[in-house]
Amino acid sequence: MPFAHWNADRAAAIVAAQANREGALLPVLHALDHAFGHVPDAAVPIIAQALNLSRAEVHGVISFYHDFKTTPPPPHVLKLCRAEACQARGGEAMAARTLARLADRADIAIEAVYCLGLCASGPAAMFDGRLAARLDDDRLTAIVEAAG
Ligand code: FES
Repeated sequence: MPFAHWNADRAAAIVAAQANREGALLPVLHALDHAFGHVPDAAVPIIAQALNLSRAEVHGVISFYHDFKTTPPPPHVLKLCRAEACQARGGEAMAARTLARLADRADIAIEAVYCLGLCASGPAAMFDGRLAARLDDDRLTAIVEAAG
């Protein structure tokens, strides 16, 4: 699901919609994270004012929960299957080479997944929600390069 670009007015509306709940801070943070894919520093004063908290309190909670990122997520996500059937078909070595090859690509988040349901035709991966099977280095590179 694509996230919206950060927008202070929209953030303020999201915060206001949750502000009267008991223990509103976590629901607010989750709602902002859901909308924008992260909770940037710019959200802290908006939240603090709406919930009558100090900026330090809000910031402390954001940094305590590692699930909350303060920077936007990369626009692309590559999920490499690291489960047994794909491993047996060379997936582990391909994953290692891919990690090395794409190390400089800040626009791609690379994640491990454990089975994509394509075990008979691994190594398998998912790029931006699209499944790909029978991968080798060239095919995987072509899929990633096609996205820019
Ligand atoms: S083990 Fe990779 S798709 Fe099932």
